[in-house]
Amino acid sequence: MDAKRPILTTRQGHPVTDNQSLRSVGERGPATLENYQFIEKITHFDRERIPERVVHARGTGAHGYFEAYGKVGKEPASKYSCARVLNETGVQTPIFVRFSTVIGGKESPETARDPRGFAIKFKTVEGNWDLVGNNLKVFFIRDAIKFPDMIHAFKPDPVSNRQEPWRFYDFIANHPESLHMVTWVKSPWGIPANYREMEGSGVNTYKLVNEQGVAHLVKFHFQPKQGVRNLTSAQAAEIQAKDVGHATADLYDAIERGDFPEWEFCVQIMTDGDHPELDFDPLDDTKRWPEDQFPLLPVGRIVLNRNPDNVHAETEQSAFGTGVLVRGIDFSDDKMLQGRTLSYSDTQRYRVGPNYLQLPINAPQEKVRAYTNQQGGQMAYFVDPTGDKHINYEPSLIGGLQEAPKPAREYHQWVEGHLGRYQTTRTADDYKQAGERYRTFEDWEREDLIANIGGDLKQCPEVIQLRMVWHLWHCDEDYGRRVAQFAGIDLEKAKALPPLPGKPAPHQRRSAPAYT
Ligand code: HEM
Repeated sequence: MDAKRPILTTRQGHPVTDNQSLRSVGERGPATLENYQFIEKITHFDRERIPERVVHARGTGAHGYFEAYGKVGKEPASKYSCARVLNETGVQTPIFVRFSTVIGGKESPETARDPRGFAIKFKTVEGNWDLVGNNLKVFFIRDAIKFPDMIHAFKPDPVSNRQEPWRFYDFIANHPESLHMVTWVKSPWGIPANYREMEGSGVNTYKLVNEQGVAHLVKFHFQPKQGVRNLTSAQAAEIQAKDVGHATADLYDAIERGDFPEWEFCVQIMTDGDHPELDFDPLDDTKRWPEDQFPLLPVGRIVLNRNPDNVHAETEQSAFGTGVLVRGIDFSDDKMLQGRTLSYSDTQRYRVGPNYLQLPINAPQEKVRAYTNQQGGQMAYFVDPTGDKHINYEPSLIGGLQEAPKPAREYHQWVEGHLGRYQTTRTADDYKQAGERYRTFEDWEREDLIANIGGDLKQCPEVIQLRMVWHLWHCDEDYGRRVAQFAGIDLEKAKALPPLPGKPAPHQRRSAPAYT
């Protein structure tokens, strides 16, 4: 016995004197059912797994802090937002970040060609703020109702259990808004070298609201101080042959050796409104806001400096959601953002359990602990102190919890319109930004892109091949031509296709590439 080491017990607190043998009748006899120690040990083991995330199952997490500059670019942050997390210069807010791939399962290779998730939980003095984004700053779709179809098409075929290129491109061919994201994902940007050397972004449009109740549209971005590094398919295959968890190892090892990764946290700002002068809708998450018109303005920095003590307790049970905002940071009418906001907490009540917010990784920081009248549910670990144990309702003439004072001014959005189902009519950019991206890539990136899309299309039926080449040719003639050539697709036949039924014809096409 080592006096310094704790004694092994059961969960009931009974000391365990023999952890090596079942209780059995004699040396070779049957085991008995009253073997409580064994039953507790094995049945807990049987339940060690919780459902993996329906998307973004493969991930890794780290703790750190956000330090606010108290400014938005050169102006005081309070001009735009009353959120203390942005306003209090030099204050360090604890954060937990989870990086992930999207489509593969929990132990799938981290070299996958996929957007990378970049989810941050800020434990602010005004409660939690979550930002759940990705590294590519845009997304495939702009209407939340399409998400399950999109994920079904991208995940393995329900019969062959293989990720089939034709299912992916069948979905894309019907959604020109995804061409911009596809151009990013199929280029080397679709395989970041690791999680430290990649950008991050909230992707959806939010609002910053100041103390006077004035709102601005905002996008959030993270620029890595380590720089950006991406891999070609060949480089990724070489890593994958030896290691399926290289990005987790890279982050873990860097933090262990004290080489703490850091990102500049920036915003892009636009006045609140429809902005009809723009050829894209600022609420459309398939578009970037051009940085020459809407520059990246630093608001602070984030640093990751501590690995989790336990992957399951922290990384796996962490639960981020787009609805988790603090005063001064608000929703926009971005339809993806609104749809996502239901989905995250819904899946977490199923995946982790109805009391997932009681877990330390998800609860607000100690100083601003939660006081609710919520009761019961599986795994209720405690009830919040309400001041009177009998009063778990509000209002009460006798005691219990009370409402917080109202701020002097609140943001009230004016909304009017006919209830219905709409798609944005500002679709010019569905082709334009994808074409611009194609032209701004470096030669090696463009070659990798052509080989990746061309290689995929070789495995697709002709009807999908032709429509994809038609789309790419409308993004940029050279883009369409080179993919067709690579995959042996008849360009003239593709160009002769009529516009997609029910979709406006592309009216943005560049014939003269900006590169030489
Ligand atoms: C995870 C739904 C769009 C980024 C998830 C999860 C769901 C979900 C159900 C699993 C959450 C969990 O189990 O904890 C949706 C829906 C979307 C959508 C319905 C569209 C309507 C997006 C977009 C982005 C994104 C546009 C990027 C900007 C993420 C990230 C995670 C995630 C980073 C992983 C969070 C973590 O590390 O725990 N999403 N998502 N999602 N989603 Fe989405």
